[in-house]
Amino acid sequence: MVETLKVEVERVAKSRLPQVDFSNLPFGKICTDHMFMADFRNGAWGNLRIVPFGYMPISPATPALHYGQSVFEGLKAHRGANNEALVFRPMDNWARLNRSAERLCMAQVSEEVYVEGLRALIELDRTWIPGAPGSSLYIRPFLFSADEIIGIRPSQDFTFMIIASPVGAYYAAPVKVKIETHYTRAVAGGTGFAKAGGNYGGAIYPTKLANDQGYQQLLWTDGREHANIEESGTMNVMFVIDDTLVTPALSDSILAGITRDSVLTVARSEGMRVEERKVSVKELIEGLQNGRVREAFGVGTAATIAPIEAIGHEGVDYHLPAVEKSSVAPHIYKTLDNLKRGIAPDPFGWITKM
Ligand code: COI
Repeated sequence: MVETLKVEVERVAKSRLPQVDFSNLPFGKICTDHMFMADFRNGAWGNLRIVPFGYMPISPATPALHYGQSVFEGLKAHRGANNEALVFRPMDNWARLNRSAERLCMAQVSEEVYVEGLRALIELDRTWIPGAPGSSLYIRPFLFSADEIIGIRPSQDFTFMIIASPVGAYYAAPVKVKIETHYTRAVAGGTGFAKAGGNYGGAIYPTKLANDQGYQQLLWTDGREHANIEESGTMNVMFVIDDTLVTPALSDSILAGITRDSVLTVARSEGMRVEERKVSVKELIEGLQNGRVREAFGVGTAATIAPIEAIGHEGVDYHLPAVEKSSVAPHIYKTLDNLKRGIAPDPFGWITKM
């Protein structure tokens, strides 16, 4: 039972907003004035509160720090007419947060705690939502073990938090990616489908090696044979092969991206052929060589839709045709962007006004 659903609010004495250069928003570097916190203690959520964004006490013995018992989400809000926040598919993030929490043996975040927290934070930091095209408020809910024990066992106590950051584009230009055939992001039976912190931490080193070779991101392959494409960096990946939009089918080693689902839904609604299936490295390379692969792009909340300009494999870079006005990626980007900004109707009921 929830102790109290009332969110206690402690406001900042002075907002940092006037110091923010909204014409230059590096992704995720600036956080809004406040953050939301809630505690799971004795089997119940309570102590819902908004406090000034800043450092917080945490036990050095928490399993979150030692064993990565931490899961997160990412969603965006855009500024609508009358300064309302147009929040994109927030309940899909809540559902996925709880799927991740289950896999990491963590408490479920109740709908009330999630929604009250989101509403309270947005209400207080509404003026931080950027209005310029290409920018938005990136909202980061996360859940971690708050136990104080070095031993490994299912945790009892958890903290749920929401922070937010005004952001511009994640990638300023089309990206070069490298097919990863040595390191592995996720394996069958692992945590790849969950938004677990460790999935991302483990990707930093191989990504850095690729960065050093001139690639912005990796194209992850399956962990068994490195024969099938799974994701691209922190995004799902899609290809236009002939006239069909193709993306790897979901599995327990692929994140069920909300942007992925949104892009597929828009494409289907416009009559485009969509296939969710295995995409082998062999098919991809042959398609790049014979021109059947016309487009490749990553899709994710942070990056939205990120066109891929080249794919590297075994020392060779295969270039994609330049993105044109008639390309699928910019078309779906525009359709989704207009919907998210409230410029176009929302036929799928994806926007929650807060
Ligand atoms: C997102 O797209 O929301 C992500 O989780 C990517 C993040 C690691 C920057």
